[in-house]
Amino acid sequence: GAPVTVDISAIEAGQKVTFAWRSLPVFVVNRTKDQLAQLKGLEPRLLDPLSSDSAQQPKYATNETRSIKPEWLVVIGLCTHLGCVPDFVPDIKPEPFDANWKGGFYCPCHKSRYDLSGRVFSGVPAPKNLPVPPYHFIDDTHIQIG
Ligand code: FES
Repeated sequence: GAPVTVDISAIEAGQKVTFAWRSLPVFVVNRTKDQLAQLKGLEPRLLDPLSSDSAQQPKYATNETRSIKPEWLVVIGLCTHLGCVPDFVPDIKPEPFDANWKGGFYCPCHKSRYDLSGRVFSGVPAPKNLPVPPYHFIDDTHIQIG
């Protein structure tokens, strides 16, 4: 499939917008400073906290935020268990979610949880972090995916 260029200028802080690339949903999230701060300290509870599985993201997204620019998360929105589309649930803490969960993505099919970098928590069915597709910034408000 061809690369797609998406306009991210209207995505407000804390919001997610879904774009299509190769018939796949691609989530683009404009993470707030608070949300980025929440990523720290989750490591002991994550299956692959350092994104050591190189198949799940390009090299330039193998870092703490799994992204090129810290605030902008770009991930393929398909659960790595059986491919359902996870819900975006920022900042949610109450039941039925884990009391310590800071929010992220929640798969309604079999209750897998991911943080706001798409890193999967331990103890859920999903085996891997959400994949980061190849992408780059064309300018401050446009991303090319693919
Ligand atoms: Fe997401 Fe099974 S498809 S938990």
